[in-house]
Amino acid sequence: MRVLSGIQPSGRLHIGNYFGAMRQHLQLQAQHESFYFIADYHALTSSPAPDAIAQRTVDVTLDYLALGLDTEKTVFWRQSDMPEVTELTWLLSCVTPMHLLQKCVSYKDKIAQGLGANHGLFAYPVLQAADILIFQSNLVPVGADQKQHIEVTRDIAMRFNNAYGEVFTLPEDYIIESVAVVPGVDGRKMSKSYGNTIEIFEPEKSMKNKIMRIVTDSTPVESPKDPEKCNIFAMLKLVASPEELAQWEQRYRNGGMGYGEVKKRLAELMIDYFRPFRQKRTELERNPDVVDAVLRKGAERARAAAIPTLLKARQAVGLGAKR
Ligand code: ADP
Ligand code: TRP
Repeated sequence: MRVLSGIQPSGRLHIGNYFGAMRQHLQLQAQHESFYFIADYHALTSSPAPDAIAQRTVDVTLDYLALGLDTEKTVFWRQSDMPEVTELTWLLSCVTPMHLLQKCVSYKDKIAQGLGANHGLFAYPVLQAADILIFQSNLVPVGADQKQHIEVTRDIAMRFNNAYGEVFTLPEDYIIESVAVVPGVDGRKMSKSYGNTIEIFEPEKSMKNKIMRIVTDSTPVESPKDPEKCNIFAMLKLVASPEELAQWEQRYRNGGMGYGEVKKRLAELMIDYFRPFRQKRTELERNPDVVDAVLRKGAERARAAAIPTLLKARQAVGLGAKR
């Protein structure tokens, strides 16, 4: 099975990204042929500063390497180092009906959030389809918000195959649902757009301060509390052992436990969880060439895997034929 996913370089990665997506990407490496890339063409649709794209690409690469990306097994590259994908986007665009894109929720959401309605944002799912189809990917691990884009990809692949013959494998989504949504420090979904994140690699002291500030309800210390309604408990589930979790659950229900106490323990566990990764990242930062080397080698391997499919698609539509 070939697994593929893209990660936008849109800011420092947070623990919601880790438990909701990255951890599963890294686990899948062991069982499947994995292809992961930094989706910088996609990031352009929200017009970031040019320097920011470059810096965030370095950061995402270092984050993945420190968290256990195995570059011997997994192909890891920067999307824009393989411009062939934009050519395939064009071939796919010409079989994509407007109504397919008009119904995409993520486009409507982004416009509602105030992003400018540029053509790139509208055509974003076609570029995503090209990312997936150019590698004949079987499984695409994504968050639930991306499910519609995988359905669009399948639809585009079917239309192309019907019109021009069997060129593309139809991918399946692999919705990452093993972890509920990780709450942010204000209790809403942790998201960089809400400014409520705890970054994976932020300094230990600041990680602790943020955890101590997580919002809780105002149930008095002596009263019983419902763990399932508590943001701290939701995070504790990510890092505590089952035995310890069961003990805390009991203490919530018994009453007599203050939130300060459980926050302190959560901070310890969270810091311990990420400590080895933090050390690895510090080591990697000492050797700035490592990122370039990884991305260069990744792009070579990615292009070698993708170009035969692009050539097949070109030929199928009648481009480049000898006269
Ligand atoms: P953000 O909301 O910070 O912009 P993205 O939309 O870029 O994050 O998400 C990248 C990946 O991380 C997606 O697969 C998404 O499902 C996952 N993810 C993001 N935030 C959370 C969260 N709070 N809980 C669980 N998974 C998350
Ligand atoms: N659109 C995805 C996101 O915002 C990123 C992405 C780009 C992607 N191309 C992809 C994910 C291909 C899976 C497959 O999270």
